[in-house]
Amino acid sequence: MKIAILGDIHGNLEALEVAYTTAVSEHVEKIYHLGDIGGYAPFVNEVVDFLIEHGIAGIQGNYDETVANDREHCGCKYEDPIREEMANRSFEWTKRHASQKTKEYLKKLPFSISFQAEGKKVLLFHATPGKNNLYWYEDRPEKFFREMARKVDADVMIYGHTHKPYRMDMDNKVFINAGSVGKPKDGDPRACVALIEITKGAVVTNFLRVPYDIAKTTEAIVASGLPAYFADKLKEGR
Ligand SMILES: [Fe+2]
Repeated sequence: MKIAILGDIHGNLEALEVAYTTAVSEHVEKIYHLGDIGGYAPFVNEVVDFLIEHGIAGIQGNYDETVANDREHCGCKYEDPIREEMANRSFEWTKRHASQKTKEYLKKLPFSISFQAEGKKVLLFHATPGKNNLYWYEDRPEKFFREMARKVDADVMIYGHTHKPYRMDMDNKVFINAGSVGKPKDGDPRACVALIEITKGAVVTNFLRVPYDIAKTTEAIVASGLPAYFADKLKEGR
């Protein structure tokens, strides 16, 4: 079974369209998204329409849950006061511009999706099996990976939230962070599409990095009234 995972799209329609086309051209059986539909770029409603139109199922990220329920805070973590201020402005902008239809879509997204593939149990969630806003970076100690794996009955765990893709194998389990379509933070500004092929004997992961018209998104960020800060970060992949 070959699937494509679209992580953290964050209102970047241009990146999503190219990521989707790439996934289709890879002849995958199914395409999933990992939540965090809006924020940082302006096309939250258009992204929701695209996902519905193309039948892309997915899960609820922290940003989706907080936008949909009009929370005070997006549930994100900030490294410094400037980032915090920018993140707050993005969150307020997104809550204000998300349509009723979008909020209802975000509200209904499930916390996780599970399925079987070639005898393996696959589980998708946004950040960790129990919390949608905990950052599961590659350099977490092995103990952390084992703790997370103990919480669920799964052989392959697929998640995002950090916007930094990786794969880790431990105790016959596969941990895949699918990276981010619309806001990569690993220094590579291209959209990330995680291709995962599951066969009886193996799980093969391929992180495709797909170029797209970044200028189109950065211009839209500035024109929308979102801080230009997010346009600069997008260009840098940070
Ligand atoms: Fe995110």
